[in-house]
Amino acid sequence: MRIANLDFKDPLIIASGIIPDIPEVMMRICENYEPSAITTKTLTLTPLEPHKPPTVIKFHDGCYMNAIGLGNPGIGIVEKINLKKCRLFVSIGGNDVKQIVNSAEIAENKADIIEINASSPNRKGYGESISSIVHEIVKEVKSHVKKPVFVKIGPWDNALEIAGKALEAGADGITAVNTLKGLMIDTEEFKPVLSYGTGGISGKCIYPLALRIIKDLYREYEPDIIGIGGVFSFREVLGMLSVGAKLVGLGSVILDKGFDVIGEIRKDLMSYLNEKGLKLEDIFAIAVKK
Ligand SMILES: Cc1cc2nc3c(=O)[nH]c(=O)nc-3n(C[C@H](O)[C@H](O)[C@H](O)COP(=O)(O)O)c2cc1C
Repeated sequence: MRIANLDFKDPLIIASGIIPDIPEVMMRICENYEPSAITTKTLTLTPLEPHKPPTVIKFHDGCYMNAIGLGNPGIGIVEKINLKKCRLFVSIGGNDVKQIVNSAEIAENKADIIEINASSPNRKGYGESISSIVHEIVKEVKSHVKKPVFVKIGPWDNALEIAGKALEAGADGITAVNTLKGLMIDTEEFKPVLSYGTGGISGKCIYPLALRIIKDLYREYEPDIIGIGGVFSFREVLGMLSVGAKLVGLGSVILDKGFDVIGEIRKDLMSYLNEKGLKLEDIFAIAVKK
């Protein structure tokens, strides 16, 4: 598969926020499990403290909610990341245009793709809060960096509109989707379970939502898409490819099953393709016109 003029041996990548923001750990995961790419946790110009625990809960089979709040050690750590067998996608965030542009300039030294997080629901002023100025952000970032720039959008009603503005401003592709804001109440104490109050829903529960948005997105603009949301097996990978995603991100499934799941999904996907005599390209966007 070819996306943003880069070739990938298979479509499986690791989504943002799933692996620790420690360069040695990232390098080891790349070496041992060989995802096509690793996306960093969203990194900001200066470090941010995470919210207080609990920050991640499992509330149903394969369904999670998190509110880490973009806690991260700052964009400077990318300098220490050297991946040999996988590409590096650097997720960046910020609460104004200048911070995001500065982060993109630092990310560019190491990133194959720069992914702007315009969708995390877990910190006021960041993530989804900046989706209203996505056009300005992308225009500025694109005028300062040469590497491909993707914008990560949320599973919202206005997802297509936000993606359209990002693409119009020059984004090279769209990552869809981030988590969807939800709430769990502890019914002994009658207060939110997560310390932040609300959290982003991820995992199996959001797969149909992600699929619908990716399909709409592809039908409307045909951009390069990294599909994410509720992928737990090779079947969901096929689903995402069939509605127009070229790469597919693994998130909650790794929290649920560990890193070995990357190899298992890859093996199942390849067996399926071999059995049917198909290539990944044959599946791509096949369900969009149906
Ligand atoms: C614990 C956790 C932390 C996350 N942190 C980030 C983040 O820092 N930046 C980001 O863009 N998305 C973040 N996400 C969202 C994931 O990258 C992904 O878009 C979302 O979880 C949906 O995919 P999934 O259903 O496969 O988990 C996080 C998700 C989880 C579960």
